[in-house]
Amino acid sequence: MPSRRPPLLSEANFASIRQRVMQATGVQLADDRRAVVAARLHKRLKTLGLVDFEHYLALLESAEGQDEHDNLLRLLVARDSYFFREHRHFECLARWLAELDHPARLWSAACATGEEAWSLAMVAAEHAHHPGWQVLASDFDPQLLECAGAGIYDIAQARYFPEGWLARHCLCGVGATAGRLSVAPALRKQVRFEAINLIRPLPAHLGSFDVILLRNLLSSLAPRYKSEVLQHLLAHLRPGGLLIIGHSESVHALGLPLRPLLPSVFERL
Ligand SMILES: C[S@@+](CC[C@H](N)C(=O)[O-])C[C@H]1O[C@@H](n2cnc3c(N)ncnc32)[C@H](O)[C@@H]1O
Repeated sequence: MPSRRPPLLSEANFASIRQRVMQATGVQLADDRRAVVAARLHKRLKTLGLVDFEHYLALLESAEGQDEHDNLLRLLVARDSYFFREHRHFECLARWLAELDHPARLWSAACATGEEAWSLAMVAAEHAHHPGWQVLASDFDPQLLECAGAGIYDIAQARYFPEGWLARHCLCGVGATAGRLSVAPALRKQVRFEAINLIRPLPAHLGSFDVILLRNLLSSLAPRYKSEVLQHLLAHLRPGGLLIIGHSESVHALGLPLRPLLPSVFERL
């Protein structure tokens, strides 16, 4: 009978998995994550009928291993998100957008399943002084972007919305889609999705943004990627524009041309 307990993940195999994740995304799995990684991958091993991590690593290295490599990243790279997460950021943006003298270009640069990008869009629809604002939502994982672009969520997520915004910006499912919300067409027209890996050179066509959100990714990046990713992004943030990071993250001591406005909100110099 197959064991319920994960097979042993040796230090060398853990190092090899960490290396793969880091090279693909810049994400550094902490030293103390070995047991968590073993537990997460155990289910994959069972699904694939593999007895141990040696066989799993051999599969990853084989010519057929690319799909499994994508699965590995999906299992090990954090992708949690929800609407209006860190709501003070959205309050600050609402005030800032109301003052802006041109149509805003906003970028949710690690958008996961899209809640952040749609929250941005709702704030812009409510508060941007100029119509014609646009949101770019990007992530390295095309599967996440499919979810984000579908714009369909459990209605329970609406508990995070400001009062009245569910009715103004979403359609509520009935019949077979009861219990789901779907982002309204007016918002969908303003939001574009693109697969972008932030540790690679960014596509030149991106142009310049007024606001970039890079929230809840920085803290898991290896130090060298942290500074590289920020530099890539700042090349696309206009002077006077805003960079917003997660509350528990920091850009301190990286020597970047940023002026703090609020905790985790910076103006590009
Ligand atoms: C924890 S989620 C944060 C989602 C959202 N920004 C938020 O704060 O709610 C981190 C996201 O970063 C993405 N990510 C990780 N490495 C990346 C990379 N190198 N380039 C682009 N996105 C990346 C992951 O796929 C995941 O969707």
